Amino acid sequence: MRETEPTVAEWERAIDFLTATGQKCDDERQEFILLSDVLGISMLIETINNRKSGGATESTVLGPFHVVKSPRRELGESIDFVGTGTSCVVRGRVLSADGTPLPGAELDVWQANDQGFYDVQQPDVQPRANGRGLFTADKDGAFWFRTVVPSHYPIPTDGPVGTLLNATGRHPYRPAHIHFIVTAPGHRALTTHIFVAGSPYIESDAVFAVKKSLIKEFTPVDDPGQAATYGLTGMFCIANFDIVLQPAAES
Ligand code: BEZ
Ligand code: FE
Repeated sequence: MRETEPTVAEWERAIDFLTATGQKCDDERQEFILLSDVLGISMLIETINNRKSGGATESTVLGPFHVVKSPRRELGESIDFVGTGTSCVVRGRVLSADGTPLPGAELDVWQANDQGFYDVQQPDVQPRANGRGLFTADKDGAFWFRTVVPSHYPIPTDGPVGTLLNATGRHPYRPAHIHFIVTAPGHRALTTHIFVAGSPYIESDAVFAVKKSLIKEFTPVDDPGQAATYGLTGMFCIANFDIVLQPAAES
């Protein structure tokens, strides 16, 4: 305020904006967190609090679409119940910082569909829990699941945050990504995403959440033999994501 010396009218406008932001909040909508997201504050807090990662996989924002723990699914199951879009396989291993596999690690996964919508945004269109799954890594710490390549999408713009983006000439889009919360006994929980390499908006995420190490190739595979090993037919994409968790601090 000392630097910008707002007029009284400008101060009143700011109060109105913050009031409207609060009024937009309810049990399902947290407009203040969305405001923190688009100002880059959420990402800054995330980064400050995960600074000493010791080679662990980098974290990024949680976002508003992690509604409940996802339904438990077997390794290899699909989290897509619609069948449009490009099929893909996501696979990797969960390891501790010293390279030891973490059997039994849990991976809570959620994503938007190929049209850029989460299940909760389209309750009459998508089956419940479409794009969500809770997986347990096998005895080697390995996991894999099938899905569709997600699309980029706009964050909710029907509230004050949308007005702010508009007024400041910013777009509301996030690049295509898949969310993960990964947990294992004795390790710090990791909240992160993988981003689809080459997705629109990868250089200009509306919430500043892209980290280079989290951008993954979704490599197209056109090989009926390989498709069959994953229970798929036709062309599909494959993404590899090895996840390294940091041992929990000794107490
Ligand atoms: C998300 O990726 O789901 C998200 C993150 C921050 C703001 C809005 C959406
Ligand atoms: Fe998201």
